[in-house]
Amino acid sequence: MPPHMPFPPCSDPHTMDFRVEVFDELPSTNTWLYKYALQKPEGYCVQALRQISGKGRFGNSWTSPPGNLYLSVLLKPDCDLGRGGQITFCIAVSLTETVLKFVPDKNLLKLKWPNDVLLNDKKIAGILLESASGNNGRVDFIVAGIGLNIYGQSESYAKLSDIEGFNADIDDIRDEFLNTLKENYETWSTKGFENIRQRWLLYAKGIGETIIVRLRESRFEGTFRALDKDGCLLLEREDKKTNKMITQRISAGEISFGQQNKSE
Ligand code: BTN
Repeated sequence: MPPHMPFPPCSDPHTMDFRVEVFDELPSTNTWLYKYALQKPEGYCVQALRQISGKGRFGNSWTSPPGNLYLSVLLKPDCDLGRGGQITFCIAVSLTETVLKFVPDKNLLKLKWPNDVLLNDKKIAGILLESASGNNGRVDFIVAGIGLNIYGQSESYAKLSDIEGFNADIDDIRDEFLNTLKENYETWSTKGFENIRQRWLLYAKGIGETIIVRLRESRFEGTFRALDKDGCLLLEREDKKTNKMITQRISAGEISFGQQNKSE
């Protein structure tokens, strides 16, 4: 399917390296970009005005009606896959800092580990990273897909236009995001993860509180203690076998807040 219109490189000097190609419709911007990633330069972005088969985390679908931002960004960091995983936090911080510029009450916006953006406790944006690596474990490329609900209806999720008086252009939000990402990506590439980690913690929901972590075949309740130097969630909980408190490192999973219903 041909692009809706070739979009020129963003005019702001910060986003010079990002080039956005806009399609009316795609099955999924992530799937499209993943297919062409080896032929495209770092910073190449694909946006669709709607998606037919938008993809979410854990194999879920991402409802993608018109009126929202569906964007995939191609990154080619010179690092191994482990470190490449930190980019999810770089994207999450960039998206949060972007959305903050459009939200009058800054306290309403939070990040849910690892990378869901919440407005008033309801999800407003999700991020899906898909990567490829060589036999040596080095990253070939990362496709970072962003879905941000702005005007389009999407079932139980929140959208930016739920905010009274909200009136911003989707392309302006996209360009603001790319500006912010460029700065944060440069910080991460040159200075490492610590600065991004600290900023992620500033926006995080639930630090020091009770959370439930769902893994593939189990779930645990405990206190969300911290985000470690690799982006893993540190969960302090009682080990049922020894009755001792332990700190469990969680690298992937789904969290929810508050105490588990004892009857569950
Ligand atoms: C999540 O489940 O929270 C992640 C959702 C990611 C959705 C975006 S929309 C643009 C890009 N293309 C896709 O198919 N998915 C991502």
